[in-house]
Amino acid sequence: MAKLQAIRGMNDILPDQTPNWQYVEKCFQQVVHRYGYREIRFPILEQTQLFKRSIGEVTDIVEKEMYSFDDRNGDNLSLRPEGTAGCVRAADQHGLLFNQQQRLWYQGPMFRHERPQKGRYRQFQQFGVEAFGMAGPDIDAEVIQVCASLWQDLGLEKFLTLEINNIGSAEDRKRYAAALSAFLAFHADELDDDARNRMHSNPMRVLDSKNPAVQAALKSAPALVDYVSDESIAHYSELKSLLSQVGIEFVESPRLVRGLDYYNNCVFEWTTDSLGAQGTVCGGGRYDGLVEQLGGKPTVAAGFAMGVERLVLMLDSLGKIPEATSQVIDVYMVVVGSELAGPAQLLAKQLRQQFPELGLINHCGGGKSSNQMKRAFNSGARLAIVLETESGQPLETVKIRHLNDSGDSISVEIANCGEKLAEFLSISE
Ligand code: HAM
Repeated sequence: MAKLQAIRGMNDILPDQTPNWQYVEKCFQQVVHRYGYREIRFPILEQTQLFKRSIGEVTDIVEKEMYSFDDRNGDNLSLRPEGTAGCVRAADQHGLLFNQQQRLWYQGPMFRHERPQKGRYRQFQQFGVEAFGMAGPDIDAEVIQVCASLWQDLGLEKFLTLEINNIGSAEDRKRYAAALSAFLAFHADELDDDARNRMHSNPMRVLDSKNPAVQAALKSAPALVDYVSDESIAHYSELKSLLSQVGIEFVESPRLVRGLDYYNNCVFEWTTDSLGAQGTVCGGGRYDGLVEQLGGKPTVAAGFAMGVERLVLMLDSLGKIPEATSQVIDVYMVVVGSELAGPAQLLAKQLRQQFPELGLINHCGGGKSSNQMKRAFNSGARLAIVLETESGQPLETVKIRHLNDSGDSISVEIANCGEKLAEFLSISE
């Protein structure tokens, strides 16, 4: 029978790789802690409606990429393709939003049925933050600074570029969409089917078309900047000034619109050219209307999410993961003879209790002393504790052997084993 394989685009992260992930996770958690963000966890499955109403019906994510199904009750559910919708739903449902300020962060798997390639997967991991209840550009600047701090801690600051754009208020966008829609209808003959389908339902997505003929037709299309209100321009200018004051460089990208419908005013992306085609590591912006759109009381918001696979790939390819992040085991316990299994487990238990930081593998499964020693060397442990007695004799002493080049070993009474370990490994209780 053919062996079952993982689903295409869904990766196993193996023990050799997990230390790299833990390193990035730890750095992210330290950064968000420094800025006063608190963790929120919400389900991986939600009502499909939640994503349709937030991300937008006429978006690639909702039209083509969601894993949706009817459950046994006939409810239509979807695996979350991103975190903002679930975060808003959870925070609002539990009364965290109205008249309050919240700084929240999350991490976890997201699911999109995209065509897999390097840096683009069907299950991928995001870190995200969402800040609620703060209307000014200062919070926009803060969430961007959270990213910048992480890049600094990871040594990536030279490899990432911040792109920003002002996409105007919801009202501005509505007026612009109407003008663009009229323009596209007038030029319908020059468009492809995809663009014609979207020209009324979501005309702004036509701007992303990869078809050169459509792009040619768009040359004389109305520009969003001409529809952005003074208020929105003032917000954006203030943000740019704040970014400059804290030394964050940015590039203005008038074509940056983002693929989710809930944004307004400032949107941003951090991009790199060290990843090939999938160069966007992080994206975000303001979404002042979303809470209300999902049935909550009006609550302004801003946030971002970053793709952890892309970060890990980048760190790997740039050699930025510190050596010391690989997990180290301190002690490998060699147990010669099945009659010593009990005493070995007891000694291991006592040592683990005495030194909570100690990593100790207790050999299981028997085997010759030489084979067990081979495993001890391969484990990366610094010391082996060897339990061996003349047959029938009680176990009174154990051997502690250095697994470095010296290979030195000493015999100690079991009662003194902990003390010797502490001395050799410089660890404390
Ligand atoms: P997004 O731009 O769709 O935004 O995704 C954010 C990041 O997730 C991307 O920049 C990318 O690094 C990563 N990502 C997206 N799709 C994939 C994929 N198929 N494979 C690997 N990585 C991927 C959002 O999700 C918004 N919720 C961000 C946000 C939060 N805006 C406000 N708050």
